[in-house]
Amino acid sequence: MGAEPLEIYLEDRDVRRSLCEDVRFGLTATPKWLPPKWFYDSRGSELFEEITRLPEYYPTRAERAVLAAHAADIAAVTGAKTLIELGSGSSEKTRLLLDALTRHGDLGTFVPLDVSASALRQSTRQIAAEYPALRVRGIVGDFTRQLDRLPTGGRRLVVFLGGTVGNLLPVERAEFLTAMRAALEAGDWLLIGTDLVKDPGVIVPAYDDAAGVTADFNRNVLRVINRELGADFDPEAFAHVAVWDPEHEWIEMRLRAERPVRVHVLDLDVEFAAGEELRTEVSAKFRPEGIAAELADAGFAREAFWTDPDGLFGVTLARAD
Ligand code: AVJ
Repeated sequence: MGAEPLEIYLEDRDVRRSLCEDVRFGLTATPKWLPPKWFYDSRGSELFEEITRLPEYYPTRAERAVLAAHAADIAAVTGAKTLIELGSGSSEKTRLLLDALTRHGDLGTFVPLDVSASALRQSTRQIAAEYPALRVRGIVGDFTRQLDRLPTGGRRLVVFLGGTVGNLLPVERAEFLTAMRAALEAGDWLLIGTDLVKDPGVIVPAYDDAAGVTADFNRNVLRVINRELGADFDPEAFAHVAVWDPEHEWIEMRLRAERPVRVHVLDLDVEFAAGEELRTEVSAKFRPEGIAAELADAGFAREAFWTDPDGLFGVTLARAD
């Protein structure tokens, strides 16, 4: 079997066009903002991997603990033949599921989907080598847009890990879950990881670590825009800010201009006043009832909900109704 060539539904020129649109729209808005997907060039993906190993960043370890404890249950309940992973990145935690589903005996195909062709090429090769009986079909795409490209038929399990669904705003999340449901058939499965609401004293340091890795990750979006669009951001002119929003129950990352900054990008001259902030990420935190309700609204029924022993992170298994 092994890895098939990547299926590319997001060409470099599409990526560039959508970066141009996001930059034009976000940097002329008040307040200024950029979507978080632009962090992840190869350096950004490496910085994120480094974040997952930081002492303050609990979500990855907590989610891994849940998967380690319940992968066998997930395999037994779903009996999945096809495993589809959205925003797969390095697929590191997915191996727990691949092991359990392979052991259970029905898994034939693994379909990771990610915007990063480089991350995908590496992970599909590695996984194909580690699971020689598995068909590995990597899809380069945007999980909010390429859901109609997913393989059809035969007991599918879609996994969306890491809490990445929290990057979507509530309205976008409802649209995404509805589109996800429309791409599935009744009886297919969704496994979704969500970081949980907790003491902001635990959440904030996870997004503002002592070693400054998250700050570097945050500034990386400016380096991406400089490189891809020939902009002249000085990343060092911006301070990393992580703030908990108690009303929306999400954390925001921002970049704060430390002095007045003028940037030339595309045909725009963008001005930042001293102290002005650019929002670069929203990472929503969830309550168990809220997740179940959002899933139900989209046509999914909760089958199981697990947390790690410290109750930091939740993983929901839901069935398409
Ligand atoms: C990959 C979106 C789950 O929101 O926790 C890590 C990204 N941002 N540190 C998250 C992130 C800052 C991460 N997700």
